[in-house]
Amino acid sequence: MMPIANPRVCIIGAGLAGLTTGKNLQDEGIDFTILEATSNFGGTWRYEPRVGFYENGLPVFTSMYKHLRTNLPKPTMELKGFPIPSNIPSFPTWDVYYDYIRKYVQHFQIEKHIKFQHYVIKVSRINNVWRVKHKYLPTGEEMEDEFDFVIVGTGHFNKPNRPVMKGEEFFKGNIIHSHDYREPEPYRNKRVLTVGAGPSGLDITMDVATVAKTIFHSHHSPQNFKTKFPPNYVKKPDIKEYNETGVTFVDGSYEDIDDVIYCTGYLFNFSFLDESAGLNVSSKTVTPLHKFMVNINEPSLIIIGLIEKACLAIALEAQARYTAALVKGKFSLPSKEDMMKEWQRRADLCIARGRTFSNLHFLAEGEDDYYEELSKESGIERVPPVMFKIRNTDAEAKIENLYTYRNYVYEVIDKNTFVRRLENETNSVS
Ligand SMILES: Cc1cc2nc3c(=O)[nH]c(=O)nc-3n(C[C@H](O)[C@H](O)[C@H](O)COP(=O)(O)OP(=O)(O)OC[C@H]3O[C@@H](n4cnc5c(N)ncnc54)[C@H](O)[C@@H]3O)c2cc1C
Ligand SMILES: *[C@@H]1O[C@H](CO)[C@@H](O)[C@H](O)[C@H]1NC(C)=O
Ligand SMILES: *[C@@H]1O[C@H](CO)[C@@H](O)[C@H](O)[C@H]1NC(C)=O
Ligand SMILES: *[C@@H]1O[C@H](CO)[C@@H](O)[C@H](O)[C@H]1NC(C)=O
Ligand SMILES: *[C@@H]1O[C@H](CO)[C@@H](O)[C@H](O)[C@H]1NC(C)=O
Repeated sequence: MMPIANPRVCIIGAGLAGLTTGKNLQDEGIDFTILEATSNFGGTWRYEPRVGFYENGLPVFTSMYKHLRTNLPKPTMELKGFPIPSNIPSFPTWDVYYDYIRKYVQHFQIEKHIKFQHYVIKVSRINNVWRVKHKYLPTGEEMEDEFDFVIVGTGHFNKPNRPVMKGEEFFKGNIIHSHDYREPEPYRNKRVLTVGAGPSGLDITMDVATVAKTIFHSHHSPQNFKTKFPPNYVKKPDIKEYNETGVTFVDGSYEDIDDVIYCTGYLFNFSFLDESAGLNVSSKTVTPLHKFMVNINEPSLIIIGLIEKACLAIALEAQARYTAALVKGKFSLPSKEDMMKEWQRRADLCIARGRTFSNLHFLAEGEDDYYEELSKESGIERVPPVMFKIRNTDAEAKIENLYTYRNYVYEVIDKNTFVRRLENETNSVS
């Protein structure tokens, strides 16, 4: 791939992925257009009380709920070149972090590049250029533009992975997915079942527990959560089946249940990528991608943020910096053959680590090595190892106590070291 003098660059989505990519392209002196389906930037971080669809037929993408606080401490969510103010709490609520994003957009003057209410419906590769088909939602008018690069930043926490269980059609209560969860109030004094023990599952269970009569929490996580749960909390195994009034679980026990919230994660939706784009897209994987982002078959298409089990904000920001360096022509990609070999090694490693192919996009224990790889190949500044160390310490604190892990402040000392203390306490403990 030869560098292009004045490349035409399209970014799809104005969430953190699209915004940080825009900022870094701008730093390289490269112009770009961001096509954003909604009327706002910030993606997931913008709370939207509505669920389902907007009046114009667009699905509501955000999964943000009213009481959300970040599940990672602020140093691991700080965007390069724009420090998080010191008066912001260690684990801010969504509105505080959203305000930080708003100021980032203002400071770097990114908004003028965003075309709001432009919903991308198809991306195809024709005669060596990208054709991006998008719909201007207020009028329904469809248009198509040509670009040299397409950077996809559409997120992957918006299409619910919602199991359908036996007997559900008889159940009289209300069943939702966490994507449509906003606040606990509708569950006051009810017998509520939550399903799943991922970040959303744990958070929403505890949020609903503050008002519910009883909270039944069905999950099969191997984690040994040491949290002392409130008296109205009851742990349950997997669901076997529903009837009109409640749920029978796989251990044969039955509970009367009023409402159910599935916190069972999300599926990818990259169906706007035409076959000509050269990628295999499924609900759990996109292949083949170099470094989890560069389309090996057509390397001028890059997907930002398609990683899991990592400090998402700084990880996708590192990808954005890598991408800006690539578009600028500051480094060359390995040969297609070498990228395929590396991709295959990564896929083999995923299986060797005892995971299924659907976990292909997990960084997990490989997160810090990934930052090293990205910098080595592209010359970008490395995300320092201290971030991975903070993430691990935070994860341990979370297993120790879900109610108190957000009371810690993490202060970065240097690229390898941090100190941790309790919020509002002045004495540091390493
Ligand atoms: C409930 C929740 C809590 C989280 N908490 C944390 C946390 O504490 N710390 C952390 O680091 N990460 C957290 N994350 C991860 C979070 O997803 C990332 O921090 C980050 O916001 C991802 O940004 P993104 O730009 O990839 O995606 P998004 O924020 O989803 O943005 C995608 C954008 O693309 C737009 N779009 C989608 N499809 C189209 C289309 N076809 N055409 C045009 N535009 C389109 C959307 O409208 C949206 O604006 C959380 C995620 C969720 C869901
Ligand atoms: C649902 O199943 C349970 C357990 O078998 C039973 O006690 C309950 O009466 C059933 N509800 C209805 C409406 O049949
Ligand atoms: C998935 O993407 C397609 C094409 O972009 C879109 O029509 C559809 O509504 C999306 N599905 C969900 C659940 O978001
Ligand atoms: C998609 O996957 C199939 C089956 O693994 C493979 O034969 C094909 O070459 C892949 N296509 C692309 C574009 O990578
Ligand atoms: C620290 O103080 C602030 C402001 O008084 C308060 O909102 C916060 O809950 C306190 N944090 C802890 C862990 O006590």
